[in-house]
Amino acid sequence: MALAAHVIPVLLFLLSCTVDALGRQTVGPTILQVTAPRHLENEFQSFIRRYGKQYAHPDEYAHRLRVFAQNIARAAEHQLLDPTAKHGITPFSDLTEEEFETQFLGLRAGGMEDVRQFANQPPIVSQEEVQSLPKSFDWREKGAVTDVKMQGTCGSCWAFSTTGAIEGANYIATGKLLNLSEQQLIDCDHECDAIEKTACDNGCGGGLMTNAYKYLIKAGGLMEEKDYPYAGKQGQCKFDKNKIAVKVSNFTNIPFNEDQIMGALVKHGPLAVGLNAIFMQTYVGGVSCPLICPKRWLNHGVLLVGYGSHGFSILRLGYKQYWLIKNSWGAKWGENGYYKLCRGHNICGIDSMVSAVAATP
Ligand SMILES: *[C@@H]1O[C@H](CO)[C@@H](O)[C@H](O)[C@H]1NC(C)=O
Ligand SMILES: *[C@@H]1O[C@H](CO)[C@@H](O)[C@H](O)[C@H]1NC(C)=O
Repeated sequence: MALAAHVIPVLLFLLSCTVDALGRQTVGPTILQVTAPRHLENEFQSFIRRYGKQYAHPDEYAHRLRVFAQNIARAAEHQLLDPTAKHGITPFSDLTEEEFETQFLGLRAGGMEDVRQFANQPPIVSQEEVQSLPKSFDWREKGAVTDVKMQGTCGSCWAFSTTGAIEGANYIATGKLLNLSEQQLIDCDHECDAIEKTACDNGCGGGLMTNAYKYLIKAGGLMEEKDYPYAGKQGQCKFDKNKIAVKVSNFTNIPFNEDQIMGALVKHGPLAVGLNAIFMQTYVGGVSCPLICPKRWLNHGVLLVGYGSHGFSILRLGYKQYWLIKNSWGAKWGENGYYKLCRGHNICGIDSMVSAVAATP
């Protein structure tokens, strides 16, 4: 919290898909010592079965049970701060916050980017067009979205966000849906931001979607997943120009405005977005609408695929407008791999780093 509040407000960090410890302090003290009563151990057992977890040693089991208990307490804190979503046991409930950050998702790379370039964009759609946008929209129904993928122990969310946007753009251009290669970006893309020159794409250490588009325009295009499969760790670049499946022709940063984001989504296809993932480790379902979620603390790259005009709230507090967001943490996380975040309040910085891309075969 302290750091987020003191940095120059328009700065932000490379997206490394991590839940940031400093950001989390704003949600209150974490309960460190939690004993594990029997019902909790039963919960832990069913968690182990459900997610196929294996702990080699009894000490490891005991340690993971303690971490699990802490995460249950954290989920309860999140539940209080985010009553319209459901927080609880997720595939990550046996990982500490730090492990989730550094081992499961990879280290967050340093570096910042100036997002003013997003703020000062000309409008994408006119006020009249905004008025005539559909009340709800879902690119999945149109066939423009591939299955939910899994980034694994690698901070490569930015690469999944990029491929998701290009998969959608390619579908709009050609009518064909292809799985595109994140691994090409992880291995080959070292592009840096034009303004913040230390914000460079860095494999499992983080990156930015707009850098990735620039790399792809220079490199010539993006290969298919089947020709350049996901390894989940950085390796030597094996990009083959003869196997380019999709070319990126141009991209646009969307202004800080949720009406413009809706317009851009309908007009251009699924959008690459950055957000603050602070509530996502414990998210189980529903419309997430946290009371506190620092807007300037973007740490995760995801794909906006639609929006709804009402979502059923678990706690029956009514209906909420939401964004429909594809994540890259597998289909066992969230609502079959998806996150619903409330719309209309710039929650968790959702309007601060949004880009649309255009593709040609
Ligand atoms: C994308 O890859 C997944 C996993 O291999 C596969 O199940 C799915 O059918 C593929 N989708 C397309 C559009 O090729
Ligand atoms: C790409 O460029 C074309 C032609 O200038 C423009 O009409 C389109 O809106 C652009 N698309 C994106 C996503 O930037």
